Amino acid sequence: MKRKLHRLQDVLDTMPVYSILITKNHEVIYANKCFREAFGPNEEHLPCYKYLWGYNSPCPNCKTFTPLKTSKPFIWDWVGPNGKDYEVHDYPFIDDDGKTIILEMGIDMTEHRKMEKKLRDMTSEILLAEENQRKIFATNLHDTVVQTLGVIKMRLSMFDHKDVSKDHKDNYEEICRLTTQAITEARQLMQDMSPQVLYELGFIQAIEWLIDNVEKRDANLKVHFVAKNPLVFNKLARDVQILLFQSVRELLNNITKHAHAKKATVTIIGNKKKVKIQVKDYGKGFREHGERRMEGGFGLMNIKERLKYMQGQFTINTGKKGTMIDIEVPIQEN
Ligand SMILES: Nc1ncnc2c1ncn2[C@@H]1O[C@H](COP(=O)(O)OP(=O)(O)O)[C@@H](O)[C@H]1O
Ligand SMILES: [Mg+2]
Repeated sequence: MKRKLHRLQDVLDTMPVYSILITKNHEVIYANKCFREAFGPNEEHLPCYKYLWGYNSPCPNCKTFTPLKTSKPFIWDWVGPNGKDYEVHDYPFIDDDGKTIILEMGIDMTEHRKMEKKLRDMTSEILLAEENQRKIFATNLHDTVVQTLGVIKMRLSMFDHKDVSKDHKDNYEEICRLTTQAITEARQLMQDMSPQVLYELGFIQAIEWLIDNVEKRDANLKVHFVAKNPLVFNKLARDVQILLFQSVRELLNNITKHAHAKKATVTIIGNKKKVKIQVKDYGKGFREHGERRMEGGFGLMNIKERLKYMQGQFTINTGKKGTMIDIEVPIQEN
């Protein structure tokens, strides 16, 4: 029996995670090697708060004993006195004397979290660089193609109808119409490329502007806008605002392109921890219901991938009565 116990302790000692047994009086009755190495030996059998932090009473934000109340395992994040980030798993454990104590395991996530943050920072840099590039491109487009088209239009208008021979009248009118159309298309392209409105108006007004635009383009569509606690959105980091703005734009464009809906709603809700956006339409739904169909589409896939790097969530609910897409992004405190 004793040999078996030793063997078990050997196994626990080789694990790269800390594991302890702790009573409800905060006494650590067993600690494996990883824990001892991270926090030092506890030869005087001090309660954990005294031994780890030098406190005289339990730590106010400790969640270790949650399983004693719920009888269920509990997972939470903890920063140790060594400054490391741990993912802590607490399990109810019946001791030899039949009393419930806690078996706690802690996985050192410090490096992992650092990598996550690095990845987030890199993604946000890429997003801003992309945005900058688009802004430059949009400005160039304006200064070249749009300007030139403007001059062509002006020159065309200088022709008097009398100057155009009867044979070319239709052609002339078609050229005028196409020139006007090309200017409108190039302007739309510029707006699509660089959300200038976002910089000029702020997030909420930029969304209202998108909705206005979409309603102008699709005369049969009415979009209702609901904003709860909207000021939170204006305070979001620039890259998050850009991503959310582009997401709403893509979702509204999808409604005009695919949904054949008469009615849609955009709801944005902010609180201290996260922001939520819901875009709902009362159209025909995805052709093949569920997310599978969406994999082919670049627009939705792009939003989903980019949200992932911001720890965001993206859910699609679609059916014969329409489509509801929910986006959630946690507010990062840096
Ligand atoms: N609101 C919607 N209503 C119905 N179908 C939709 C809607 N949004 C997207 N879809 C379907 O999902 C597909 C993928 O969308 P997306 O990734 O934006 O690609 P794209 O718009 O370029 O086709 C669309 O081709 C369409 O079939
Ligand atoms: Mg699309």
